[in-house]
Amino acid sequence: MGADKRSESNGGGPVTPLLIYGAYGYTGQLIVEEAVKRGWRPVLAGRDATRLAEVADHHGLPHTAFELGDRDALDATLKKVDVVLHCAGPFRHTAQRMVEACLRTGTHYLDITGEIEVLESLAAQTELFEEQGIMVLPATGFDVVPTDCLAQWLKELHPRATQLEIAFESVGGVSRGTAHTAVEQLGEGGAVRRSGRIEPVAPAHLTREVDFGDGPVTVASIPWGDVATAYYSTGIPNITVYTRMPRKAIRAMKGISLVSPVLKQPPVKRVLHWLVNRQEAGPDEETRRTGRTRIWGCASSDDGVFAEGVLVGPEGYAFTAYAAAEIAARVLDGTVFPGFQTPAKAYGAGLVMSLPDVERELISAPPSPEYIP
Ligand SMILES: NC(=O)c1ccc[n+]([C@@H]2O[C@H](COP(=O)([O-])OP(=O)(O)OC[C@H]3O[C@@H](n4cnc5c(N)ncnc54)[C@H](OP(=O)(O)O)[C@@H]3O)[C@@H](O)[C@H]2O)c1
Repeated sequence: MGADKRSESNGGGPVTPLLIYGAYGYTGQLIVEEAVKRGWRPVLAGRDATRLAEVADHHGLPHTAFELGDRDALDATLKKVDVVLHCAGPFRHTAQRMVEACLRTGTHYLDITGEIEVLESLAAQTELFEEQGIMVLPATGFDVVPTDCLAQWLKELHPRATQLEIAFESVGGVSRGTAHTAVEQLGEGGAVRRSGRIEPVAPAHLTREVDFGDGPVTVASIPWGDVATAYYSTGIPNITVYTRMPRKAIRAMKGISLVSPVLKQPPVKRVLHWLVNRQEAGPDEETRRTGRTRIWGCASSDDGVFAEGVLVGPEGYAFTAYAAAEIAARVLDGTVFPGFQTPAKAYGAGLVMSLPDVERELISAPPSPEYIP
């Protein structure tokens, strides 16, 4: 695909028909580095011309600066590529404008959101995407590639499963962008899926013990992207996602519901965003290189039959860069499925196993996938 959209950049060799928007953000830069390691020459974009040029010049890549509201510039840039990997979030403010431009220009869309409302909004537009022949595959980062692939694998092992529980633990803190996105979501509470519908619940509404591999630890429910996506990947109607949390943090999360009206106030959010801008951009290189993430999952049915497994992989932001680049590679190769997609629905449970340093272990499974008690 895309031969017609390939062009020569100013002296740097053939340009890869991939646009990375938000390229100078913390995660955008990691993805650019991964793209360059693969020998690609993507077009970089973002709204701050100076910061964009710094990253692009460092790698010798073509670049173009524009705001997402500049429809002419956005469309003109998308027309030159086959696929955009959108890295500028919070995505509740940016995804729809990029997707509409993709519809106008016939461009495939990838992003790294994990925001449930964005994922649900994109899923609801699937017929439009199919009509235009474009694939819209959000959540190509840590949230949700490994969890989505684990969920799909467990569903294959236990096709009658009606409940999915996923838990993860990560190390090393979060980027400013992730913290800004969390601030935007403050006061909105948690979310689980029940009987196919997403239900609002209190923060850390459910807790349980899980074993990531070295004994039971406590995890609490959070509104993670899989509450949206795992339903489309597996068809399982009841989904809860948890993360490992110290008991003190769980108590604090539960207390948040008492002050959620305050946290929703724009002046409070402004102060929190200001504080976020004072933190480090994201985990340092050493943390990304040595950190590990662990994911536990269980797909079960009401008769007590279950499939359970654990997946271990790189630190979350390193994971995101590997996963997003791998999915972009598949799109650039022409493996696309028009409509709304999830990572595992499009590329199977094995997608995650094609990424570096990922291991998967089966803890327990029904005797055979066809097992009926
Ligand atoms: N799913 C996952 O696993 C995963 C992993 C990593 C990151 N993320 C998400 O990805 C997003 C970016 O994270 P990050 O770590 O790269 O954060 P970051 O370092 O703060 O970068 C954010 C980038 O988005 C741009 N941006 C934000 N709002 C924009 C808008 N309205 N128009 C144009 N550009 C805009 C920023 O440009 P300016 O600096 O000019 O504002 C910057 O380039 C966050 O939403 C984060 O939650 C998800």
